[in-house]
Amino acid sequence: MSLPDKMFGVFLPIANGGWIISNTTPELNGLYEQNKKAAQLADKIGLDFIMSMSKFRGFGGETNHWGVSMESMTMMAGLAEATENVKVWTTMHSLLHNPAVVAKMVTTLDHISNGRAGLNIVSGAYIDEFKQMGAWREDVNHDERYDLADEWITVIKKLWSEDHIDFDGKYFKMEDCEHAPKPISRPRPDIISAGQSDRGLNFATKHADACFIAGRDMDQRLSYSRRAREIADENERTIKVCSMCTVIHDDTDEKALKRLQKYEEGRDMGAIMKQMESWGLQGDNLLQSAKKAGCSQNHTVVGSPETCRQKIEELVEKCEIDGVMLIYPEYEEGLEMTGAEILPHLRQRYSALVS
Ligand SMILES: Cc1cc2nc3c(=O)[nH]c(=O)nc-3n(C[C@H](O)[C@H](O)[C@H](O)COP(=O)(O)O)c2cc1C
Repeated sequence: MSLPDKMFGVFLPIANGGWIISNTTPELNGLYEQNKKAAQLADKIGLDFIMSMSKFRGFGGETNHWGVSMESMTMMAGLAEATENVKVWTTMHSLLHNPAVVAKMVTTLDHISNGRAGLNIVSGAYIDEFKQMGAWREDVNHDERYDLADEWITVIKKLWSEDHIDFDGKYFKMEDCEHAPKPISRPRPDIISAGQSDRGLNFATKHADACFIAGRDMDQRLSYSRRAREIADENERTIKVCSMCTVIHDDTDEKALKRLQKYEEGRDMGAIMKQMESWGLQGDNLLQSAKKAGCSQNHTVVGSPETCRQKIEELVEKCEIDGVMLIYPEYEEGLEMTGAEILPHLRQRYSALVS
């Protein structure tokens, strides 16, 4: 595995609106050109990875949030050509694609990118997204979706390392299935997982090099981070624990707070509630949680570049995090600022800590 000790990357705006659900944010249209600009800037400023999610249905509301999106694998193939050094991590749903097809897609991505490919595995949770295409499996519950994903990635790993494979699982059967060429990455392309539950973390720590944890506050993020490492220990593995982080900056703390306030004033409650419903919240809980959550649903740092940097360091150090995936209301401005005023300090701080 060739992941750095502390990794910094960007969550590309592959779906409209990004991660701030509001009608007063700068326009993120979910289309290729904006993603390409963000990817090339991430590459230029020296981030470690770019990642895109896999999304097939939005959350409606007045902003039609995430109703417009690119497909992750094909977009990352384009971005592999458009970049030189940054790792290109695509997201694939284990419920939707045959593993022999995904193995070949990631191998192809790895060849296009000359060994920079990574696969983020998601097991599927948003029922409407799958029902619309007749792909929801009523017979497979939450934990069983990870059993299915377990077989799926086992097949993929075997195909990456063996010429012909047989596999007789509950969900997948392979008969003399062949796979050539092999990926360029050694020992294989990066594997990433984003499950939060114990079952999800169990899957991640068994199969992935890095996992993403969320959490409603710093305490919960720290507890998820420690839980991931505990489960990794039980599986006799180590794993990089990563977190998302939205950065809202301006010249001064005061101006940045005003920006956030403007976004809050335009928050799209319809889309926020629909998104929470997709996570399984219902009834009164839904309305209360949506009101409390606000428009920016991931850990958000707000302030001058200096303040944002300090808060990112606090996230890394207090929550025992190995990697941060950055999100912005406007990617060009955010990435330029990160390259000039945040990343060099983070690199210096963490290389000093490692050596
Ligand atoms: C960084 C990150 C990226 C994710 N990307 C996707 C995605 O592209 N598509 C998707 O359906 N779910 C995505 N999810 C949701 C997870 O796959 C998973 O459903 C969620 O974290 C709940 O975890 P659990 O399955 O262990 O309950 C993502 C989650 C995180 C933290």
